Amino acid sequence: MSLILGIESTCDETAAAVVADGFDVRSNVVASQVELHAKYRGVVPEIASRAHIENILPVLREALNRAACGLADIDAIAVAHRPGLIGSLLIGVTAAKTLAWSLSRPLIGVDHVHAHLYSVMLERNEIPAMPAIGLVCSGGHTALYHVNGWHDVQLIGSTIDDAVGEAYDKVAAILGLGYPGGPVIDELARDGEPKAIRFPRSMLDRTSLDFSFSGLKTAVLYHVRGVPGRDTAPPPPPDQQQLHDIAASFQAACIEVILAKLRRAIDQHQGRSVIVGGGVSANRGLREALATFDLPVFLPPLRYCTDNAAMSAGLAHVHLAQGLTSGLDLDAITYSQFRDA
Ligand code: KG4
Ligand code: ZN
Repeated sequence: MSLILGIESTCDETAAAVVADGFDVRSNVVASQVELHAKYRGVVPEIASRAHIENILPVLREALNRAACGLADIDAIAVAHRPGLIGSLLIGVTAAKTLAWSLSRPLIGVDHVHAHLYSVMLERNEIPAMPAIGLVCSGGHTALYHVNGWHDVQLIGSTIDDAVGEAYDKVAAILGLGYPGGPVIDELARDGEPKAIRFPRSMLDRTSLDFSFSGLKTAVLYHVRGVPGRDTAPPPPPDQQQLHDIAASFQAACIEVILAKLRRAIDQHQGRSVIVGGGVSANRGLREALATFDLPVFLPPLRYCTDNAAMSAGLAHVHLAQGLTSGLDLDAITYSQFRDA
């Protein structure tokens, strides 16, 4: 049996988890910073890194306690070292290196986005038919992958502007609904009419696997506040039913685009199954739409959709089995370094 302690601090959640054999989650502790960032309606990097420093040791202790084990029982230390916010990443990476060095255990750096894909394996241990088409949709990413094994993950499409979760968060801000926007819009959409407003669906060109959500977000802004430069008076604030309809219509546009791109990716890359991870994979409307897919669709349990360390510890088990460990010179890699690589 391999028992891996995972650490996650790429963005605004400080998390630690103990996972046995890549799928058996013994503990999964997440200290959310949502309240700290809510008044800014988004993540403030400096606040995030300071909160990680305060949270990391209590979160690690709690993960070990809940797994009923001590540091001596741990076989390896995993950490998500890319991509993310530099100040945030450095806290988790430094903690992981310190533990690995002082315990003389292997250090395993994992890719946070690949870990979101791997989250479908947690508590299940059923390997999707490969090649699979992977979709990661979260606050920081909206991307499609050709997955031919957990070590063979190729990017085949990504957003050229906003991530879909970011669009949810910004639309929620436009509607005055608080942060994060995904869960509240998902809830409002339940009692709304998805065809009430025809928001744009950006498909880019006919074969593109890339996404664009900023036009949709701007369309919601103009719908709610009026189009700048037009002489007409701005519309009155939406009433409760109009809020439901805007949420449902926005969500319908997001889901339609995501499903269309998924289908394109399956056709172009002969996908045999679909793997979906990331915060937006918790979305009820998206899950209902995916349930009608003709291929097997793998989704993580809700608690592993948003950022967590169990997914990193799980993926690290696969790396360890292949002898893929990291040196103590493991780098923290930011979003922009990642894009330029
Ligand atoms: O994966 P995650 O925790 O962080 C990143 O790696 O970005 O995802 C957070 C994002 C936020 O934008 C949040 O609004 C969105 O996931 N989200 C949802 C839902 N739950 C969380 N979006 C749509 N529907 C949901 N139910
Ligand atoms: Zn994430």
